[in-house]
Amino acid sequence: MKVDDVLPNLNNELKGTKTLNELENIIIKYLGRNGLIHDLLTKIKNIDISQRKEYGQKINNIKNSINQLIEQKKTELVNKKNEETTVDITLPGKRFPKGSLHVITIAIEEISKIFQKIGFIRMSYPEVDWDFFAFETLNMPRNHPARDDFETSFIDYPENKKWGKMVLTPHTSNGQVREMWRVGAPIRMINIAKCYRPNWDPTHTPMFFQFEGLCVDKGINITHLKGTLDYFAKEYFGPDCQTRLRPHHFQFTEPSFEMDITCTVCKGTGYLRTPEVPEVAAGTSGVLSKTKCKVCKSGWLELGGCGMVHPAVLKAGKIDPGIYTGWAFGFGIERVIMIKYGIEDIRYYYNGDIRFLEQF
Ligand code: DAH
Repeated sequence: MKVDDVLPNLNNELKGTKTLNELENIIIKYLGRNGLIHDLLTKIKNIDISQRKEYGQKINNIKNSINQLIEQKKTELVNKKNEETTVDITLPGKRFPKGSLHVITIAIEEISKIFQKIGFIRMSYPEVDWDFFAFETLNMPRNHPARDDFETSFIDYPENKKWGKMVLTPHTSNGQVREMWRVGAPIRMINIAKCYRPNWDPTHTPMFFQFEGLCVDKGINITHLKGTLDYFAKEYFGPDCQTRLRPHHFQFTEPSFEMDITCTVCKGTGYLRTPEVPEVAAGTSGVLSKTKCKVCKSGWLELGGCGMVHPAVLKAGKIDPGIYTGWAFGFGIERVIMIKYGIEDIRYYYNGDIRFLEQF
């Protein structure tokens, strides 16, 4: 390249240079060990001796100009790169999704609080327990047909002479005799734990939660049971909620009942309200249609079992049934939540879909 072409050429090349890497190549081409400037300097020996000084100075000036131009370009490219990667602190920040408690956890806390307010203490008894506590001491001896209702899952573990087989407990009633052994009488306990039965359909999962109330003291009768459950229902479902006890049978209570509450959809009427009048439909009184409520069909929804603790159970718990009486109940946590919020399929609780879970 001719001496006079060097700077115009460099200027041209710098115009098209977009990155620091490209600039590095230009530096090597012009100023490198075998670069253009080096080339021109080695040619000095061919120059007439009288002009060598001038030639040398010229090349030196060109070299300085090259350095200057390259420095300029470098600053320009570095600034551009910084601009692209700089954080604009005036932009709104990224929001991370907020976590929330699982709907079952929320219900457990709510239920615990409701019972704590009236002096019940929260207990958790084993999920893996002995037949002895899950059945035997609850007045359900080994071959009793009532045990088939529970379709229990047994653990592959050597049977114990005293306690029998090891089971995944099918209900929280296993905590009853355990609590009687722990404190004797009086008792006010709420036992909340996982239970297991091999069922899988829209209203049953193989693992589920129950909460079990147990109250033992002198002079306890059905009115205490009814009053406590009515208090719970009004606290949990709302002050309009009505309750009733229906005769039933359980081995561990006598008498036994199923407890029902008024349907949260039709408010206990059994019929849907006329949809044309939304204000009426939302209230508790108003025009009823002839269409039966699809949720309850009768105005009532079954909550779960309860009754007066069977004397045989008190005896197994080393409590004298001649002195003490008690009541107990066992309800499903998933079921009470389903009723409260109108959830149709129990499996929503457990499939981990965030769109469902974040609503609570
Ligand atoms: N353990 C029963 C079940 O899982 C529910 C139950 C009924 C519990 C009556 C009780 C009771 O404490 O008194 O089906």
